[in-house]
Amino acid sequence: EQKSAFENTSIVGRFTGLTPGQKHGFHVHQYGNLIEGCKTAGPHYNPHGKTHGGPDSEIRHVGDMGNVVANEEGIALYELEDHQIMIYGEHSVIGRSCVCHAGEDDLGQGNNEESLKTGNAGGRQACGVIGMSGPF
Ligand code: CU
Ligand code: ZN
Repeated sequence: EQKSAFENTSIVGRFTGLTPGQKHGFHVHQYGNLIEGCKTAGPHYNPHGKTHGGPDSEIRHVGDMGNVVANEEGIALYELEDHQIMIYGEHSVIGRSCVCHAGEDDLGQGNNEESLKTGNAGGRQACGVIGMSGPF
């Protein structure tokens, strides 16, 4: 939810069926076309050509939302107030997708090339298109 173009976006989610006790990388990816599953979601959404980071990093992809942390039952509650992920304007994420990964996102701190691209978060476990919702 984003109340106006000038306010932060609030992102909340509830995940089930995750690996108990595991951190799972979570990002907005560039495309919402999931015709071949999560693999056609493309790379992390990165309209400003930055390197990968975490949601609190100065340098990050717009789509970098860090990790979803699963409890012993494999359930995770996720909450983020973000100033880069927008649903208004030129860099809106509507029509793009969210991907939850099999492994932990190192937030760009892995000291290797892949860390600055994907955070080494591993396979794409689940994904979904970011769409419009009515009031509820
Ligand atoms: Cu991802
Ligand atoms: Zn990224």
